[in-house]
Amino acid sequence: MKQRIYFNEVVTRDGFQMEPAFVPTEAKIALINDLSQCGYAKIEVTSFTSAKAIPMLRDAEEVMGRIQRVSGVEYTVLVPNLRGAERAMDVKPDEFNLVMSTSETHNLSNLRMPRENSFSTLREVMERFGTQVPINVSLSACFGCPMEGDVPQAEVMRWAQRFADLGVRGLTICDTTGMAQPRQVATMCEALRHRFPDLQLTLHFHNTRGMGLANVLAAVQSGIDRFDGSLGGLGGCPYAPGASGNICSEDAIHMLDAMGCNTGIDLQSLLLIARQLPEIVGHAVPGQVAKSGRITDLHPAPESVAQLQKEFS
Ligand code: COA
Ligand code: ZN
Repeated sequence: MKQRIYFNEVVTRDGFQMEPAFVPTEAKIALINDLSQCGYAKIEVTSFTSAKAIPMLRDAEEVMGRIQRVSGVEYTVLVPNLRGAERAMDVKPDEFNLVMSTSETHNLSNLRMPRENSFSTLREVMERFGTQVPINVSLSACFGCPMEGDVPQAEVMRWAQRFADLGVRGLTICDTTGMAQPRQVATMCEALRHRFPDLQLTLHFHNTRGMGLANVLAAVQSGIDRFDGSLGGLGGCPYAPGASGNICSEDAIHMLDAMGCNTGIDLQSLLLIARQLPEIVGHAVPGQVAKSGRITDLHPAPESVAQLQKEFS
């Protein structure tokens, strides 16, 4: 049987949060409605952060309230604190994706508080809302911090354990600034699967240094079956120096399909949507398969080849 891989599309959250020009609310809603038809397991629609911190996503309520939800797709939202959780609860998402960093410096930069305060805040969110909505926690900078450098695996495991003890449904292990390399990924994934066999484990890679798909492969080979990706390869954390795009969803899905995995995604439809993305954001995007076509999209041989075929037959 084909290996099942569950994909979470994060373009309208991670992808858009660092875009320089505001993407109109209507365009966000239309994009999510289109993506909902492609077979994703999950879509991270937006984040309920402060509009001063992330002005691009200041229309979170309207977007969540107006999208057409498709059954079988989970609609998740990023929540950084209690205020965000209260706002998010009003629009009834299928999941809260809470966030904190495993690096003290990155947490101070991104969430303006020490990690211990973030943990207490998120624990409070879980206590208040955990019986009403499934909780996932995204741990940032798990493979290195652009300011502190190395983040030891033991430190990642420590924070993962604390959230597992609180009863989260899942953990997302994030390589926020593309510092992970495949051997490190394999070691981390094996340790996580061994320690947390009952949790939904998702890997979130950025392609900042071109290692994104190699890291996906390493994670798949270590038994991970859930990934975040961003259409076109957009993305990045505004509070992490040098951050750039997530792994490109359609490139990753194309690779997984070619390897014989079952992603559940209609790649052809997805590519049509990906080709509209440069117009939506007003600039070219890094994704490759939308430009090159799939490996199965063949080209006619040139006339000269037909001549040669005749000559040599
Ligand atoms: N939604 C809306 N407004 C919020 C909010 C939320 N979730 N959290 C805080 N605010 C508002 C407060 O009401 C306050 O508004 P005011 O200045 O008009 O009084 C202001 O933001 C500051 O509040 P404070 O509690 O001091 O928060 P902060 O300034 O320490 O910011 C965060 C904390 C986490 C909300 C903010 O840093 C943030 O949103 N960061 C973005 C994190 C992110 O999404 N990063 C990228 C993804 S990993
Ligand atoms: Zn990210």
